[in-house]
Amino acid sequence: MRHIIVNFLLIFLFSSSGFSQHPPSSARIEWKEIAPGVWKGIVGTPDQITPLSIAEIKPRVEALTSLGNLPFPAQLNEGAAEVYDHSTNLRFPLRRGEEIYGLGLQFKSVKQRGTIKQLRVDHYGGADNGRTHAPIPFYVTDNGYGVLINTARYLTVYAGTGVRKDSNDPPPEMNRNTQPDWNPQPYSDAVEIAIPGPGVEVYVFAGKNAMEVVQRYNLYCGGGTLPPKWGLGFTHRTPTLYSDQEVMNEVEQFQTNGYPLNFVGLEPGWQSHAYPNTFVWDSTRFPHPDQFVSELLKRHIRINLWINPYISKYSPIYKEITPYTGSHTVWVGEVPDFFTPQARQLYKQLFTAQHLDIGVSGFKVDEVDGYDSWLWPDVAKFPSGTSAEQMRQVYGLQFQKMTYDWFREKNERTYGLVRASNAGASPLPFVLYNDYYNHRDFITALCNSSFIGVLWTPEARSSKTAEEWLRRMQAVCFSPMAMLNAWADGTKPWSFPEVEKQVKDVMLLRMQILPYLYTTFAQYYLDGKPPIRAMPLVEGFSYTAKAEKTQLHSSDNPYATAVVPEVKDQFMLGDYLLVAPLFAGDTARKVVLPQGRWYDFYTGDYVGDGEIIEVPASLDHIPLFVRDGGIIPMMPPLLYVPENGEKVALTLRHYGEAGSSAYLYDDDGTSFNYENGDYSLVKLTVTNEAGKLKGSYSTVNAGYESGYRYFSWEFMTK
Ligand code: GAL
Repeated sequence: MRHIIVNFLLIFLFSSSGFSQHPPSSARIEWKEIAPGVWKGIVGTPDQITPLSIAEIKPRVEALTSLGNLPFPAQLNEGAAEVYDHSTNLRFPLRRGEEIYGLGLQFKSVKQRGTIKQLRVDHYGGADNGRTHAPIPFYVTDNGYGVLINTARYLTVYAGTGVRKDSNDPPPEMNRNTQPDWNPQPYSDAVEIAIPGPGVEVYVFAGKNAMEVVQRYNLYCGGGTLPPKWGLGFTHRTPTLYSDQEVMNEVEQFQTNGYPLNFVGLEPGWQSHAYPNTFVWDSTRFPHPDQFVSELLKRHIRINLWINPYISKYSPIYKEITPYTGSHTVWVGEVPDFFTPQARQLYKQLFTAQHLDIGVSGFKVDEVDGYDSWLWPDVAKFPSGTSAEQMRQVYGLQFQKMTYDWFREKNERTYGLVRASNAGASPLPFVLYNDYYNHRDFITALCNSSFIGVLWTPEARSSKTAEEWLRRMQAVCFSPMAMLNAWADGTKPWSFPEVEKQVKDVMLLRMQILPYLYTTFAQYYLDGKPPIRAMPLVEGFSYTAKAEKTQLHSSDNPYATAVVPEVKDQFMLGDYLLVAPLFAGDTARKVVLPQGRWYDFYTGDYVGDGEIIEVPASLDHIPLFVRDGGIIPMMPPLLYVPENGEKVALTLRHYGEAGSSAYLYDDDGTSFNYENGDYSLVKLTVTNEAGKLKGSYSTVNAGYESGYRYFSWEFMTK
């Protein structure tokens, strides 16, 4: 009898552990079109908590419809999925020569094919493994589609690395003994993704080109953010322990020295306790915060407050919130669970009374990405039952959405900073930043932000030399947030007298292009086109380079693969402006011009057509180029962005010889009334009749009475 029971047990154990079975075979994914050019597939049993549900996305159906219908990307019909061994595994085929972009805010490369990414919210520390501030599980390829894995799990993406024995397009086996071009990484024909969960939602976005795919992604998420107009001016973050008077003096210095300034960021010292935080003003440094904020507003300066979400026992809401915080602390501060309505409500009440009601314009939400050693560990528990893993993946995204909604309720736009994000963030008015300070990698991140619906600032903090300072300030002025973050050492724009003039010039140039910049952001909202565009999103761009194999020394890793050079240090800002930042030490740089004729922004001179040009490095200017027919509306170099209705003269610059047209967008700059059509859209047209250029303009939408007046045309190319 005993015998029989043991045997029975063994059979049971073997079959339940899977030893006696083959793994289930993978199945095709059923795709359902949910908006024009957008499909959804469901694999297994997806989690309830996903980035898109946290972001509460509201697809812009009308804008998606006007982009038109496209067939389902045929190649993805070969995609397969399986739920096996506690993991949901996906496989999507790749074609020869197909390139992959996106997969989070990466810092080292734009092309992602051949890499492995562990998409996990983390502080980027230099390791190119996928762990980053915005590990958005979305990739776009140049074959006219993009794939979004809507998960809040730590997923791993093998972006063209695995080689299956049942591949339809296998690489040849080679012999390392006889074939010197033996490759440690043989050709792979698929993206494979492992998601540690019982199922997942997958979205496919089609497009005639990579840009259109990105547009559909952004529009599906609700359209890109349109920041308040003041958010696109210059911002300076003051040293952490500054008092109200010291901040005022700093503002005074900017204004009397003629440096633009539109919002000031206060760092941890504005609070009575920080790391963890009380979220209330420090009464010694800021005895009258309401007067301080309104005094600044009179000077056209908004205030942004640094916080991290972790709460100190000295905060007035501490006792009430503690039942709604997680099991672990961060710097001994408790971690609110914003899946509970109580935690949300308590933060809303405190922040509204302390900040929003006295005119604070936004927040810098720090430390929501976390270093492993100080964030909650994966064993942490939260009262809502949300796992520590999912909490980590969406904490920054959820905080953005929550605070954005507070401002929305007041019909006031905000623009802030955040250190973690995820899918669905396109409409959220937050810019990512971090402490890593490699200038070149900062620009690569700027390029990569454009594929995944997030904004990034290559903030300037300090520099070893005047030249480096200038290069950083020049580049940051062509990013979504022109920011000097002087929290640690108090660097000022004028701290390096050798380049003081050039720094001021580029800050003022940022102000001059504001009408162009604001229109570019309106395009992000209306059409889903990101304001910063990596070159693969740009029409006419192509670049092929041979892999560069470095001569290996016998002490080097013998498996080092050849590196294919790529263009990751130049980008477009809007439809017309190509930005090619210089880095400290550069005496010249190469610029890859897309097809079409290009002109120097400063002189209007012709520079080339679909070719690689070499530009000498001058201290005076960051290299900028304009497409033939480019129209750049510019305002005078004001020190602050115009307030609602303020009258401003515009110069409409035209470059090249081509007749063309462009739009100029404007609205009140601060409210959400534009969503109801309260904006002005003017069509700017240039004709070329027998070599004579002539400019005109006509109103397309008159929902707002713009302060832009007295248009004058300037034809830059003589
Ligand atoms: C860091 C942040 C810096 C600054 C600092 C203040 O975490 O990245 O920009 O805000 O905290 O303590």
